[in-house]
Amino acid sequence: MKNKNKTVWSNRFKSKMSQSFQKIGSSIHIDKRLYEQDIAASIVHTQMLSKQKIIKSEDANKIINGLKKIKAQIDKGNFEFKEKFEDIHLNIEKALFDIIGPSAGYMHTARSRNDQVVTDFKLWIKDASKEILKDISLVMKNLLKKAEKNTDTVMPGLTHLKNAQPISFAHYLLSYFEMLKRDKKRFENNLNLLDECPLGSAALSGTSYKIDRTYTAKKLGFKKPTDNSIDSVSDRDFAIDFLYASAVCAMHLSRLAEDFIIYNSDAFKLISFKDSMLTGSSIMPQKKNPDPAELIRGKVGINYGKLNAILTIMKGLPMSYFKDMQDDKELVFSGFDTLKDTLTMSAELINSVYANKSNMLFMANQGHTTATDFADYLVQNKNLSFRESYAISAKLVNFAEKNEKLLSELSLDEVKKFYKDLDKSVLKVFDVKNSMNMKKSHGGTSVINVKSMIKKYKKEIK
Ligand code: ARG
Repeated sequence: MKNKNKTVWSNRFKSKMSQSFQKIGSSIHIDKRLYEQDIAASIVHTQMLSKQKIIKSEDANKIINGLKKIKAQIDKGNFEFKEKFEDIHLNIEKALFDIIGPSAGYMHTARSRNDQVVTDFKLWIKDASKEILKDISLVMKNLLKKAEKNTDTVMPGLTHLKNAQPISFAHYLLSYFEMLKRDKKRFENNLNLLDECPLGSAALSGTSYKIDRTYTAKKLGFKKPTDNSIDSVSDRDFAIDFLYASAVCAMHLSRLAEDFIIYNSDAFKLISFKDSMLTGSSIMPQKKNPDPAELIRGKVGINYGKLNAILTIMKGLPMSYFKDMQDDKELVFSGFDTLKDTLTMSAELINSVYANKSNMLFMANQGHTTATDFADYLVQNKNLSFRESYAISAKLVNFAEKNEKLLSELSLDEVKKFYKDLDKSVLKVFDVKNSMNMKKSHGGTSVINVKSMIKKYKKEIK
């Protein structure tokens, strides 16, 4: 019991650790989130040591039972984490000594905290990525539901925030479906890349014990063991990949939120939110502000920050393990928490959005959005080149603008001033719904296209 409060390296040290060093050096308040992974990896490592007859099966059984007890204690909140023992690995090892005595001393054979932490962290990021994948799917499903109800809701499609061409609200929403689909692929690719188990690399050089790394890897759910022990303990690519995928996903949601904020503004009035997604003002009685959308727009700053921080920490680090890397956990945990909140909020926000259809239609008619359709009509029916047609259509727009008319308000005679040989069939090109439905090229905004895309997406997302 006299060792109870000592660090594992106390025999080598003449003085106690400085208090301020203990405070900055300890990561237990952060990495206690790895306890399940740490215990799972220790159990498998112990089973492997026993199978390989490196430690006695009696000791292995004691270790495994002790670890299970510790897990139960932590699960119930009955475990005291100590700053003094630095991190999750040493806190658990110390507790194991308290519970089973000297047999605990066999657990750390043929491993180091260096391979231990990276194994725990990979396991954690695997689970976290799977959770994020589910959360992204929910956002995608809600986009799909909203899109289904709006395949023929016409709105102005914008470029440069200026009215460009008519599109459907569904087609707009599904553009985010595609972005999120890529986000899922990014997280899935990451899962593939990190699927190699570092445990057994020990401090950095491997180990002289006859360990079975394939057994350990397979039992922990990895495809195979890592092939280079030095890289194993110094690699944090998988954490960077996770933060990068998170940053891109958060950026997509930030763009959606910004769109929603603009479309909901009093200047646009294209969409509204349910009151459950709005806040009032402490002074202005009339206000209903879209705070959730603003929070989603802003949160990406945290995701970028964490990515930037880990890239900076890793830059120029010589081989192999350094304590610099200890801060990787805080960055990933916080990036994960932030993205998870953002995804949950986005899923709800999308459900709460509704299109102000009449204003969308009105706005789709503003800004001469069918000018391209007129040019296309001339190309397709009058054997003109696109550039010739473009010039004729531009002149027609100038005329409409000068006379303060929509293109759809022009008479056939007015249109014929710019190209003589026309009959009244040309007038339908100025109808915004017609314009939308003419866009039947693959990936275009016509109702037919969008409906068949929705069908395809529904099968994919199941
Ligand atoms: N808490 C440490 C970390 O997260 C574990 C590895 C410690 N290794 C060492 N050689 N000090 O990086």
